[in-house]
Amino acid sequence: MIVLGIETSCDETAAAIVRDGTDVLSSVVYSQVELHGPYGGVVPEIACRCHVEALPGVIDESRSQAGASWEDIDAVAVTYGPGLSSSLLIGLSAAKGLALRLDKPLCGINHLHAHIYSPFMSEGVPSLESSCPFLALVVSGGHTCLVRADAPGQYRLLGQTIDDAAGEAFDKGATLLGLGYPGGPVMDKAAKDGKRDFVRFPRGRARKERGLIDGMDSDLCFSFSGLKTALMYYVKSEGVEKDDPRTNDVVASYQEAIVDALVSRCRKALGDGMHILAVGGGVSLNSRLRERLNQMSEDQGTKLMLAEPRFCGDNAAMIAALAGTGQGVWGDEAMSLDAEPNLLVAGV
Ligand code: KG4
Ligand code: ZN
Repeated sequence: MIVLGIETSCDETAAAIVRDGTDVLSSVVYSQVELHGPYGGVVPEIACRCHVEALPGVIDESRSQAGASWEDIDAVAVTYGPGLSSSLLIGLSAAKGLALRLDKPLCGINHLHAHIYSPFMSEGVPSLESSCPFLALVVSGGHTCLVRADAPGQYRLLGQTIDDAAGEAFDKGATLLGLGYPGGPVMDKAAKDGKRDFVRFPRGRARKERGLIDGMDSDLCFSFSGLKTALMYYVKSEGVEKDDPRTNDVVASYQEAIVDALVSRCRKALGDGMHILAVGGGVSLNSRLRERLNQMSEDQGTKLMLAEPRFCGDNAAMIAALAGTGQGVWGDEAMSLDAEPNLLVAGV
């Protein structure tokens, strides 16, 4: 089955053609990062306007790279949540229109499920189904969550951030240090030449007493807003300026605090029959996080599955691939889907 996938949940306009859930024939991602850069974060109105303008060209490009005609497409898959409401609507409307015009089935995909599926898209890796039960870590600009996967589509949220996502912590930290947007890649690079123990930043904990965590073990939840505030006070009190010679050391220390928080929660969450850790999302590109997760997996005898770099950030290949496995919402039910900005990982 050949699936055309469409992804417009945030600031990437993406389309892809995937055969039988694994064979990625094309994956086109148009990043809007330059448009949002001056604002230090994604501006929803700009994102959705840009999706309207870019999506037709991105879909055409995905077909041409795959050498696929409209007749070759067997189904259209699209992210319907979670994400920015106005951005989701653009992809969802386009996908519904295409499915009707082509007279092919529509499939609505939960974006978080696609990130969970992304480490299983590489050649020669075991299938998601055969890897259950496993622990999934989704780390991006919008999400930081630990999920237990018992079967395809059967997911339980074990922990998540109670404030900023890990990617936001990178982005906001970089803005504070005048390093530009998005912060993750710049900080990753700067940290390579820095001392990780230069500043001891707080390893944010989400405490039970605060009563914020519905049914989740607070030790598996994350909090990154205090870290950002600690950086702000450090920068002010120490007089760290743009292009300051201490910048790489501060960045390396800040990154280590984020990575520490992620790795320690993964370590704690593993067990109870789970010997595989699958990691996806834009922040999983971080080289120090990859290194630390590899170390931890070796120490614990856990199997680590990292998404390939091209499938870490938002992309439509993971949407089309997941639909190709039969997951998602299909048929008439898909046609009546609305954009669901707050769709949960436990949702379909
Ligand atoms: O998955 P993604 O493309 O979009 C969302 O769903 O949010 O993730 C984008 C996030 C941004 O916050 C960006 O700073 C972060 O991923 N990111 C990184 C790296 N590359 C991208 N964070 C840390 N290290 C990186 N190398
Ligand atoms: Zn995402």
